[in-house]
Amino acid sequence: MSWNATVLTLFPGMFPGPLGTSLAGRAMDRGLWSLEARDIREAATDRHRTVDDTPFGGGAGMVLRPDVVDAAIAAAVPEGDQRPLVFLTPRGVPLRQSLVRQLAAGPGVVALCGRYEGVDQRVVEARGMIEVSIGDYVLSGGELGAMVLLDACVRLIPGVMGAAESAEEESFSSNLLEYPHYTRPAEWRGLRVPEVLLSGHHAEVARWRRERSEAVTRERRPDLLTHSPNQDQGRAGAPLYPADSPA
Ligand code: ADE
Repeated sequence: MSWNATVLTLFPGMFPGPLGTSLAGRAMDRGLWSLEARDIREAATDRHRTVDDTPFGGGAGMVLRPDVVDAAIAAAVPEGDQRPLVFLTPRGVPLRQSLVRQLAAGPGVVALCGRYEGVDQRVVEARGMIEVSIGDYVLSGGELGAMVLLDACVRLIPGVMGAAESAEEESFSSNLLEYPHYTRPAEWRGLRVPEVLLSGHHAEVARWRRERSEAVTRERRPDLLTHSPNQDQGRAGAPLYPADSPA
């Protein structure tokens, strides 16, 4: 059974884009996951294929209509589909590795990409969407966010990465940024690789890496030291896939 992604967007031509190359593209070719990009506009019913309208209460921009978005979801998602519906929006909860892991362990994802000012909140709530942001900046639409989310999920699908790379994933669970990496030559432009890495002393290397990880985390991301990324993801902190549900 493969992992299936459906993306609802006004710009289906943006997909697969970068997801068709490299690790994700090879995994797709091998049938480990699939991606279907569907045009929200196909769910419009009027002659002009209108998908949006002006915001109630006034203000700039346009809002995607709830009836059109709902019809787009109904057309794309078969009855009984267990995949969570994720709406990419700067208003969402920040995307973290804990949510990525939960999504990757499930049957796939349906991703809704907003454009314009946003999506009518009624359909967001009626469909139980998980609102997710990929960072504290505003993109021109959710498409790049959906690609980020899918890339992060796909690399965790069993069989996508080799065993050596899979083990690396553990390093993020420790809540620390990674230690710096070095390779040959041992001296470059007069700059030497830290001696301990050349020592062959595994325990010393491990201690040095741990210490570098903690230092860079303290400096760049002190929030990671006090905040568990395994909290506050999913709806109201609930796991996406409770232990007794098929994941
Ligand atoms: N759409 C626009 N900005 C976004 C962001 N930061 N994350 C997810 N979707 C978005």
